[in-house]
Amino acid sequence: ENQQFFSRSLLEWYLVHRRDLPWRRHRNPYYIWVSEIMLQQTRVETVKPYFQRFIEKFPTIEALADAPEDEVLKAWEGLGYYSRARNLQSAVREVKESYGGVVPDTKEEVSALKGVGPYTTGAILSIAYNKPVPAVDGNVMRVLSRYFLIEEDIMKVSTRVRMENLVSELFPEGHAGDFTQALMELGALVCTPKSPHCLTCPVMEHCAGRLEGKEESLPIKKKA
Ligand code: ADE
Repeated sequence: ENQQFFSRSLLEWYLVHRRDLPWRRHRNPYYIWVSEIMLQQTRVETVKPYFQRFIEKFPTIEALADAPEDEVLKAWEGLGYYSRARNLQSAVREVKESYGGVVPDTKEEVSALKGVGPYTTGAILSIAYNKPVPAVDGNVMRVLSRYFLIEEDIMKVSTRVRMENLVSELFPEGHAGDFTQALMELGALVCTPKSPHCLTCPVMEHCAGRLEGKEESLPIKKKA
């Protein structure tokens, strides 16, 4: 019913409106991983040139694992939050040692890697391996809280868990990766924090938040 409508319409919209981003040109788990780490605290437009230079310099897991740490940090210069780069290299070394340089494809193995939390685990497994593992970040919580009128504090773990369960139910069969990216893309381009572009939204007609006139006041985020 409503969930079916949401998933199908969103996926259809994404296939037409998806941006051509450097990490979307190949479904290489290592590229997806690097991009998701860079995108954690940094905007897409800033990440683009860094991502491209980083991949040119360290094209494979092996190359990054074998690089001196100071070269990795130098390639990260300007992105900030350098622990991201250190953790990434140490996790990549772990993948080289323990998994023969192949990014593992289970939730247990991926989430055990250094610097890889629940969001990044879902992003890698769904986008790179097309597995139905939810990747719920701030964008996704905003979209879901509006569409399904979820008026719970998004700072609470229970709210995130509820949203992860919801995304697990929403995944369209065989399209996990595109669906994950569709949720992020809608949040980035249409369902924006301020003045969302509801008139161009593919799911506006059944958006409970919008129908209640609450789109701008969702999600609810109390101070930590
Ligand atoms: N933000 C976080 N992950 C992203 C992705 N894969 N594409 C675009 N924006 C993102």
